[in-house]
Amino acid sequence: MSTTALRTVSILGTGSYIPEKVITNADLAKIVDTNDEWIVSRTGMKERHQARPDEAASDMGAAAARQAMESAGVTADQIGMIVCASITPDMPFPSTACYVQRLIGAHNAFCLDITAACSGFIYALELAKNAICAGQVDTALIIGTEKLTSVVDWQDRQTCVLFGDAAGAAIVGARGAPHGIRATALGSDGRLAELLMLPGGGSRNPTSPETIEKRLHYMKMSGRDVFKHAVTRMIEACQKAIAKAGLTIDDIALIIPHQANLRIIEAIGHRLGAPAEKYFINIEKYGNISAASIPVALDEAVRSDRIKQGDKIVLVAFGGGFTWGAAVVEWDKN
Ligand code: UT7
Repeated sequence: MSTTALRTVSILGTGSYIPEKVITNADLAKIVDTNDEWIVSRTGMKERHQARPDEAASDMGAAAARQAMESAGVTADQIGMIVCASITPDMPFPSTACYVQRLIGAHNAFCLDITAACSGFIYALELAKNAICAGQVDTALIIGTEKLTSVVDWQDRQTCVLFGDAAGAAIVGARGAPHGIRATALGSDGRLAELLMLPGGGSRNPTSPETIEKRLHYMKMSGRDVFKHAVTRMIEACQKAIAKAGLTIDDIALIIPHQANLRIIEAIGHRLGAPAEKYFINIEKYGNISAASIPVALDEAVRSDRIKQGDKIVLVAFGGGFTWGAAVVEWDKN
């Protein structure tokens, strides 16, 4: 594309990867003091998947990326930018995005990781959109990939039952027509960082026998506090993005929320005033897969024909940081 004046940005293809191994609520009840009734009634989760020991975030991300490229009809050499969102990268550096680049052979791309926890995919979408609108690249690959089973504390029933592994991806590209990503609304609040974190292993608490003994290398979450903020911020982000797009909730065909807790999704639905059938829900199968949550759900919604050409949809997420964000997308894949 030669001109940037009329550029709008669309999601041109999606893909996902779900590891084979399933962990049921009954499996978890053998490890910690929990039960199926508590997990289903408090979260809506029934199963989550676990990656193989030899599978890292980049392996899963590359598998999802290949599907997204096929669905978009884009080859590896056409990708100008890879943004990988993850809180479980292969390692602190090099970036997981660089590993994905190597695995898929996208050697014309520049690559970076972002850390925005469960909002990571929305943040990646925003970065890709801006790079494309500015004419910096024509086509971007955005990925959310997580191996959360490698960072949950299997002795802590308050967190270990909630999380799973998976990856989702999308190809984002320039369009001449006024469709695609219509509006976004993002925010962060670092004052509340301690409510959801993985404190060990960085420059604040470098790994040592002491940090390991204190179990600082595992995720910590104040669930009840996070719940309240998630509901408030996701509603606010949806309302802002929908208003910025010049639309109302009645114009929205489908809302794809981050899948952290069914009760959070129901609370949002109630307050936004959209009927239950407008919410895409797959939490029962995967649990909370953080940055992979939105792209996996989006890919499932596309492949099951829940999204049609021209539909206006909302993607909305909330996560550690705190971070949050919503995007209104007019589906324009054809
Ligand atoms: O993805 C990023 C954003 N993350 C989220 O949005 C997560 C937000 N938070 C939540 O989804 C919920 O707060 C949780 C699912 C984490 C917890 O649900 P809750 O209804 O807020 O439970 P709670 O933490 O208030 O705990 C209620 C009770 C406690 O027992 P007591 O003190 O009342 O006797 C917990 O010890 O449930 C107990 N409990 C459990 N019981 C059985 C906590 N975890 C479990 C468990 N099995 N796995």
